[in-house]
Amino acid sequence: MATRAEIEETYNYMDEIFRESFGEHADLSCAFFDGDLGKTLEQAQRDKHRLILDQLRIGAGSRVLDVGCGWGRLLKALADRGAHGVGITLSTPQQETCLRGGYECHLMDWRDVTPVTFGTFDGVTAIGSPEHFCSPDEYRVGLQDQVYARFFHLCSSLLRGGGRVYVQSMVWGPTAPAYEDISLDAAKGSSAAVCWPATPRS
Ligand SMILES: C[S@@+](CC[C@H](N)C(=O)[O-])C[C@H]1O[C@@H](n2cnc3c(N)ncnc32)[C@H](O)[C@@H]1O
Repeated sequence: MATRAEIEETYNYMDEIFRESFGEHADLSCAFFDGDLGKTLEQAQRDKHRLILDQLRIGAGSRVLDVGCGWGRLLKALADRGAHGVGITLSTPQQETCLRGGYECHLMDWRDVTPVTFGTFDGVTAIGSPEHFCSPDEYRVGLQDQVYARFFHLCSSLLRGGGRVYVQSMVWGPTAPAYEDISLDAAKGSSAAVCWPATPRS
């Protein structure tokens, strides 16, 4: 699991430029163009949130926990639907931005959440955050299944009857280079070199 210090280091340096470039509440991760490249990024992100919230069957009065809420774009989409979002993040400037927008956001690791912390939910989302849940050290000793099982057990304990989880995550497919081969010194243009900037090192 990435530590709070690692998350602060990963996201805080970009806080100001990210907000200046994309607005106070935007998603860092992905958008739903669905083949229409004429869409603006803002529209494609709106469409992504509509897709997510429709799949979770979220309506007015629903409660959703957003694990790794970033700068609060999903919290905004929830408020626009008349639903209530509770966001958690490990980045202080992200929390400050969410709070400035009037959204509920806590500086908190999901491992510290229990059904008593915020109550239960109609939906749980983790959008672009699961990538952080297993650290390189945990991966090396084969703990990944345990880490993700713990996360999904938590989701299960937080959901009311009929509640759903939505996860958006990068995955390490069979054609990706072995973690150990990823290096700045790998052959220029190779997968091992291309993946280097996006790979946490410890
Ligand atoms: C790539 S950002 C995604 C933010 C937002 N969901 C989006 O799509 O733009 C990853 C988010 O996960 C959060 N995060 C990572 N590990 C976490 C943990 N253990 N507990 C809570 N939040 C975590 C980070 O603080 C950050 O907000």
